[in-house]
Amino acid sequence: MTVFDKQKEVKAYLKPFLQDKKKIGFVPTMGALHEGHLSLMNESLKNNDYTIVSIFVNPTQFNNPDDLKKYPRTLENDVAKIKTLNSQIIIYAPSVEDIYEGETASKSFDYDGLEFQMEGKHRPGHFDGVGTIVKKLFEIVNPTNAYFGEKDFQQLAIVRKLVHKNNMAVNIVGCKIFREENKLAMSSRNERLSADERAKATIIYKTLTEAKKLFGTKTANEVTNWVVKKFKNQSLFELEYFEIADEQTLLTCKRKSKNKNYRAFIAVFVNNIRLIDNISLK
Ligand code: PAF
Repeated sequence: MTVFDKQKEVKAYLKPFLQDKKKIGFVPTMGALHEGHLSLMNESLKNNDYTIVSIFVNPTQFNNPDDLKKYPRTLENDVAKIKTLNSQIIIYAPSVEDIYEGETASKSFDYDGLEFQMEGKHRPGHFDGVGTIVKKLFEIVNPTNAYFGEKDFQQLAIVRKLVHKNNMAVNIVGCKIFREENKLAMSSRNERLSADERAKATIIYKTLTEAKKLFGTKTANEVTNWVVKKFKNQSLFELEYFEIADEQTLLTCKRKSKNKNYRAFIAVFVNNIRLIDNISLK
C-alpha cells in the first residue's frame, strides 16, 4: 500500500506515469470512507491505469468550527478499507501544513453565480474553500479523470466550472448517489447520527420522491410550500432549505420550462448534524 503525506513525494511518484501518458484517476475525499466513496474508486479503477485517493479534512471549506471539530477522522480505518478494495490504490493524506504551505486560507473564486445558490447561501465561504483545495489537489496529482458524487451536486457543478475557467486538463466524472438500505444518502456525517436518527432520516429521501411526484402537477412554489409545511410538524428534523432549481444554472425554478431539467435540493439538520440530498425531477 502506498501512502504519502507529502505533496513533493506524490508529484515525484506520479511523474513517470504522467510522462508515459498513463491515465490517472483521482478521488478526492475527506475520509470517513463509506460505500459511496468506494464506488467512486471502483469507477476510477475501471477507467484508468492508476488510481489515487486523497484523504484530507479541508479546514477552509467549513464555515462552522464545531462541524470541523466533529468531522470524523478515521485515517487508519480508511486506509484498511482502501487496501481491501484494491491495494494498488495510491493514497495521499497530507497535513494542513503540507497542502497549504504556511497560509491556511481560501482564494476567492467566481463560478458565474453558481456559488450564490443553496449551499453557497447557507455556508458562506464554503465554495471558496472547496475551489482552493480542489485546485491545489489537481495541480499536485494532474489527474486525467476526477470522480465526484452527485450527492454534492452543487459542488460537482462548481468543480466543473473551476476546471473550465482555469483551462485545467481534467475530465470531471459525476457519479450517482449511493444510498443506505433506507435510502438515506451515504455521507460521512451519517456516522454521527444515533441509530434512531439514522433510521428516521429516511424522511429526507421520502420527501424528495414525494416532491418529485407532486412536481408533475404542481408549481415549484407549491411543492416547496408543501415540503416546508411537512417539516414544520417534525420535532427531530429542522429544514434548512428545499429548492427546485435548474440543473444547469442552479437558479430557483420560478416557472417551469419544458426545455430545462430541474432538480430538487434539500438540507436538513438532525440534532445539529447537517444532511443534504437531491433528486432529478426528470
Ligand atoms: O466532497 C468532499 O469530500 C470535499 O468537498 C472535497 C471535494 C474532498 C474537497 O475537500
